[in-house]
Amino acid sequence: MPSSLARHSPEAITLADACPKPVIHQASFKVSYNYPVIFTHRVFDTNNPVLVQTLGLQEPEKRQRVLLLIDEGVANHTPQLVEQWNKYVDYYSASIASAGKPVMVPGGESAKDDTRLQDQLSQHIERNGIDRHSYVIAIGGGAMLDAVGLAAATAHRGVRLVRLPTTVLAQNDAGIGVKNGINKFGQKNWYGTFAPPFAVINDDQFLQTLKPNDRRAGMAEAVKVALIRDAAFFNWIEDNAQALARFDRAAVQYLIERCAQLHLHQITQAGDPFERGTARPLDFGHWAAHKLEKMTQNRLCHGDAVAIGMVIDSRYATLTGLLESQALERILNVLQSLGFTLYDTALKQRDAEGRRLLVQGLEDFQRHLGGELSITLPDTIGTAREVHVIDASILEQALADMQTGTALCN
Ligand SMILES: NC(=O)c1ccc[n+]([C@@H]2O[C@H](COP(=O)([O-])OP(=O)(O)OC[C@H]3O[C@@H](n4cnc5c(N)ncnc54)[C@H](O)[C@@H]3O)[C@@H](O)[C@H]2O)c1
Ligand SMILES: [Zn+2]
Repeated sequence: MPSSLARHSPEAITLADACPKPVIHQASFKVSYNYPVIFTHRVFDTNNPVLVQTLGLQEPEKRQRVLLLIDEGVANHTPQLVEQWNKYVDYYSASIASAGKPVMVPGGESAKDDTRLQDQLSQHIERNGIDRHSYVIAIGGGAMLDAVGLAAATAHRGVRLVRLPTTVLAQNDAGIGVKNGINKFGQKNWYGTFAPPFAVINDDQFLQTLKPNDRRAGMAEAVKVALIRDAAFFNWIEDNAQALARFDRAAVQYLIERCAQLHLHQITQAGDPFERGTARPLDFGHWAAHKLEKMTQNRLCHGDAVAIGMVIDSRYATLTGLLESQALERILNVLQSLGFTLYDTALKQRDAEGRRLLVQGLEDFQRHLGGELSITLPDTIGTAREVHVIDASILEQALADMQTGTALCN
């Protein structure tokens, strides 16, 4: 019987009255997660036991079976990687064994766009006999880690995953958290799970082969988290922008560690690691970024799109009186000093009815959150608040100002 009928027909009321009270047994339990995020140097050097010790954390007496998956972008720049791995496994053969030949996995956003890749990754995990007590080690950028993370989380309902992130963004954000996912139905990260890794090992040596834009991209996430959570860190980025722009090793290392620490703090201490609520502070600047990545078919990489997304939201915050224009100026300056471009022609694109395509990103974002719209906006350098309504005309003004390069203080 349709529910509207059931609600109104007297017959249904009599039946409902006659129904016994439901018996409810509440299933309630907690699962705690604990994983290390380790910073080290030259992880496959046989003098460095960090990896083998990490693999032995759970079952120290056992010889651990491991399948290595490598981002092709990393493998191309580090051709000696497989040889180093083989030597490492030989050297520690009492403790670890290779489950099969290392697998090369396409890197970059296209890896997340190709749903066939998931099937191939699952096949590698299955054929090499990885079970819930053996390991997948994924070496790569954020996109490859997201794709492999999903395959590992769904194989046998979750096999152990050790991530070795190889980009700035992966080491300070994408690779250290609890999410994975691939793109589907034209939307970023539509298909994915929450699945904390077994461990994360950040080796700064990998960063040396990054292209200039991939060096810079991850710095956007550091500006993001500094801007909403840590004014002192923001000041530090401002003071060290030159060193960061020339990829000074010590400066980059500090930036990554502090950024990773702030992300981990949000995940572990803010009470919503699996994002069941609607507030998503770590997604500051991301509603626009995700849309821009799609609109430009990834010509804009994630980090570059996040930088522009933060400019949009910060400008909007200033126009609504939330953020002082002086603070906005500092945000724009720091992003520019790091080498980000703060405008892209994609912002101009409109649909047949003349609406800006970008603005649809707000709807996509709300759908992704579920429930009400929640956008994080900075209110000072170092703090932010959630807003639930975006004024279309003020947003239009912010975008128009960006297009014309309107001065801030007038
Ligand atoms: N899961 C999460 O919580 C989370 C958080 C933030 C971002 N992300 C995702 O991360 C992705 C972006 O990751 P990214 O910025 O690391 O870029 P990326 O993974 O797209 O990598 C960029 C390029 O660099 C190559 N590469 C990787 N490491 C290299 C190295 N050491 N040397 C040379 N080339 C190398 C890759 O093959 C690729 O071609 C996006 O898909 C984004 O959605 C996920
Ligand atoms: Zn991001």
